[in-house]
Amino acid sequence: MVNESRVLVAYGTKHGATEEIARAIARALTAAHLDVDLRPAGRVGSLDPYRTVVLGSAVYAGRWRRDAMHLLRRPELGEREVWLFSSGPVGEDSGDPQGQESFTKPRRVKEFAERHGMREPVVFGGMVDEDAGFIRKRMARKTPPELRDRRDWQQIDAWARSIAATLQGATGIPAAGGNAPLPVGLETTPRVPS
Ligand SMILES: Cc1cc2nc3c(=O)[nH]c(=O)nc-3n(C[C@H](O)[C@H](O)[C@H](O)COP(=O)(O)O)c2cc1C
Repeated sequence: MVNESRVLVAYGTKHGATEEIARAIARALTAAHLDVDLRPAGRVGSLDPYRTVVLGSAVYAGRWRRDAMHLLRRPELGEREVWLFSSGPVGEDSGDPQGQESFTKPRRVKEFAERHGMREPVVFGGMVDEDAGFIRKRMARKTPPELRDRRDWQQIDAWARSIAATLQGATGIPAAGGNAPLPVGLETTPRVPS
């Protein structure tokens, strides 16, 4: 059965930065009294319980991760309220708006969202570290240390709150406050800075 207040937050990640963004979103939605499940995109089963889906992915070579793309294309998503985000840019912006646009906003995702009447995906800064893989290490070394993590937690929190406000307007769920339980999937490893 569809629970009007139940929200799925799903993410595609390779190195964990996007998972941390998804956790921050799940936490903000929970603080606003929404009933939240947090899942890797590849581990989402039936969408029946959810009226609302927040789906995000890391961007690699101008594309979303395969599991997130697969979830985006599930026909049931078209019957739900959907919010999308990408996690990508690190370092300085390129100074070439067109190049930056195609680098940070995967064309397939943008076109798919447009075609299916979904909101345009939001772009959050990403994170690279020297912890894995030749290309990732090289990218991290070319990026000034202070710009290797461009995730803006306030921006992410504000976006999540705006989702909650929209849903509360639509469903009459009470506004934030009180001690909501942690979302499913968040109980074990809360790794997001508070
Ligand atoms: C090999 C490589 C390719 C990347 N390609 C893009 C890209 O095309 N567009 C973008 O915005 N960010 C790109 N990034 C940055 C990642 O999207 C960013 O580090 C992201 O936060 C990683 O998320 P994850 O840790 O969840 O995998 C790339 C990073 C690496 C290492």
